[in-house]
Amino acid sequence: MFNETYKLSNGSAIPKLGLGTWLIDNEQAEQAVRDAVAIGYRHIDTAQAYGNEFGVGKGIRSCGVARAELFITTKVAAEAKNYNAVKISIDESLAKLGLDYIDLLIIHSPQPWNEFREANRYFEENKEVWKALEDAYKTGKVKAIGLSNFLQDDAENILASCEIKPMVNQILAHVSNTPLELIEFCQKNDILVEAYSPIAHGAILDHAEVKAIADKYGVSVAQLSLRYDIQLGLVVIPKTANPDHMLINSKLDFVISDADMETLKNVDAIQHYGEHSFFPVFGGKMNK
Ligand SMILES: NC(=O)c1ccc[n+]([C@@H]2O[C@H](COP(=O)([O-])OP(=O)(O)OC[C@H]3O[C@@H](n4cnc5c(N)ncnc54)[C@H](OP(=O)(O)O)[C@@H]3O)[C@@H](O)[C@H]2O)c1
Repeated sequence: MFNETYKLSNGSAIPKLGLGTWLIDNEQAEQAVRDAVAIGYRHIDTAQAYGNEFGVGKGIRSCGVARAELFITTKVAAEAKNYNAVKISIDESLAKLGLDYIDLLIIHSPQPWNEFREANRYFEENKEVWKALEDAYKTGKVKAIGLSNFLQDDAENILASCEIKPMVNQILAHVSNTPLELIEFCQKNDILVEAYSPIAHGAILDHAEVKAIADKYGVSVAQLSLRYDIQLGLVVIPKTANPDHMLINSKLDFVISDADMETLKNVDAIQHYGEHSFFPVFGGKMNK
């Protein structure tokens, strides 16, 4: 999987498989990045909100692979909703990561987390945020720019006013919960979709129906889930700090049949994401 890439609308390549780092702390992140790169990963996904840019950066700088061969994504905090706040935060991310540039910078969410999917859509504010990303792109501080958690109308708001089009939208997309219409909209608009929580944050691992399909292919549920997203044309960024899991998650050299893809699109939706169900991305509410 490691050599497989998609092309972004600006022509640059992005590895189809990346390492997710949410809930991996600074100390663990440094080692996780080094382990992942040693195994073959060249794409790492972090965010200002994860509080681990420092550790991720240390891992990147000590992993022994040239910076140019790595693809690093970070995300502007969901709460930064004006030009200056975003501009400052980009420099903070660069400083924490200890890097000269970021390969992909995305807006973490169209709304601050404590208003996620609520009435105020922050359309005007997001245009300002996008302008700050465009300006960072023009200076070369970031090599690609994009969105995360943007619904169709959130993305249309940016598309209608932008100078540079968003190159990705990173969204929740896994077996049993795949926003096919949003994916189609993005793909028609040359916006590459990145699937976050591609293993449903772990909640799909004991799904009996999915396990039966995985058994048929002689793979694990994690592998089947990742291959499913890849076959939909999505980037996958499974999270783990466990080198065994990192390796297994890269072995996706099998093909899910059309019939099984249809079954996987339609299995009963996961309702609970375990102890982390309270996070807005899983439908929970943050305390106001
Ligand atoms: N943009 C956003 O708003 C957003 C939201 C959520 C996530 N993300 C990004 O997407 C990444 C992935 O999502 P996620 O962390 O929610 O969940 P995930 O990658 O779907 O699932 C992670 C869980 O699966 C387990 N796992 C991983 N590989 C496994 C394997 N081969 N066998 C068995 N278990 C395995 C992990 O356990 P171990 O750790 O024990 O391996 C962990 O419990 C995040 O880390 C983050 O980078 C972005």
